[in-house]
Amino acid sequence: MSSVETFDAIVLGGGAAGLFHAGVAGQRGARVLVLEKADRVGKKILISGGGRCNFTNLGAGPANYLSANPHFAKSALARYKPRDFLDLVERHGIAWHEKTLGQLFCDGSSRQIVDMLLAECTGGDVNILTRQDIASVDRQGDGFEVVANGTTFASRALVIASGGPSIPKMGASDFAYRLARQFGLKVVEPRPALVPLTLGGEDLLFRDLSGVSAPVDARAGKSSFREAALFTHRGLSGPAILQASSYWKHGETVGIDFVSGKNADWLLEAKRDRPKATMVSVLSDILPNRLAEALCEKLGLSGELGQLSDKALREAAQRLSNWSFRPTGTEGFAKAEVTAGGISTAELSSQTMEARKVPGLYVIGEAVDVTGWLGGYNFQWAWASGDAAARAL
Ligand code: FDA
Repeated sequence: MSSVETFDAIVLGGGAAGLFHAGVAGQRGARVLVLEKADRVGKKILISGGGRCNFTNLGAGPANYLSANPHFAKSALARYKPRDFLDLVERHGIAWHEKTLGQLFCDGSSRQIVDMLLAECTGGDVNILTRQDIASVDRQGDGFEVVANGTTFASRALVIASGGPSIPKMGASDFAYRLARQFGLKVVEPRPALVPLTLGGEDLLFRDLSGVSAPVDARAGKSSFREAALFTHRGLSGPAILQASSYWKHGETVGIDFVSGKNADWLLEAKRDRPKATMVSVLSDILPNRLAEALCEKLGLSGELGQLSDKALREAAQRLSNWSFRPTGTEGFAKAEVTAGGISTAELSSQTMEARKVPGLYVIGEAVDVTGWLGGYNFQWAWASGDAAARAL
């Protein structure tokens, strides 16, 4: 009897993409082994969505993803839709709700999603091993050989599903990229995304507003997000900023519209209607008081509107609608919800996620250079890419 255990597919990583993929592949008849480094699977799912897992977004489409090739995600996303995952959630009797902007969460807990994925794996007779220290991964003929915890496993397909390096304290690492390089696949420089931005220099004043949040339009590059921004003791966070951070590049500014929806003359109109009102009180009607005070201090405008020139008010309105912050950096992989960049899509088939140069090698989930917006898009990519690869095995 051979001491090597043989499978149709070995999946490296038991996170969102790996577990989902394994369940689908197993139920389609493949003999699948999942090797997970951590003591349990699906750790990021468990902490996701504040413990309720924002498991998909009803509006998920290619426009919600960043990649060196913005077309790459189209095929997989078109073939496995948010509705497909929702059907699965409903089949498992998991109660859910739409929070906002198409974001679907469990009513109960993220644990239900992990349990559902595990049940699907059981339905496909998937073998799952945790606490696996993968010592080597090698090509053997047309297949692969993986040595973990001293045991050798062989398979005809190998699926890299070990995610990106964001949140290293949860065990995240650059393992996927190291494997990719071993097999000669290019990696698009990984960088923290959906991450708070740090402020310094002229923007230091705003760090005093730690804890204050306001609805804004945050812009980075050509992208703009209308959600809440939160001032922190290090800089800026909140959904609008996290979204913008994925598009922000070092040295660039982030533009914030604090008075979204107001026309260019709104302060002149306020001056006409309420000449005795102060700038701070007018701004406090739409923004938290501490923020209104800080903005007025920065603008150098105090006193009643009636005493301020039209020119000064027009300039103030203009600055308030496009306040320019120059972040000093991000809070890095330690705080990044996801990693942008990753294994280059140029190396992979968009239909199957299989590496063109290495038949039988697949890459799914966050390890791929496809990064979603905040709001359930990243899990939808994990499901869709996992499904595409499972159907190709
Ligand atoms: P994932 O990280 O899930 O899984 C990779 C697995 O590989 C892990 O289990 C890891 O331990 C394992 N692994 C790593 N190295 C290994 C090795 N050497 N050997 C074996 N195994 C190894 N997204 C979303 O859509 N909605 C949400 O609500 C949230 N919320 C959220 C909150 C927080 C705090 C974070 C950090 C992230 C989110 N996300 C999210 C993002 C989402 O969690 C992420 O995009 C997916 O988990 C990616 O799925 P993957 O399976 O690709 O990686």
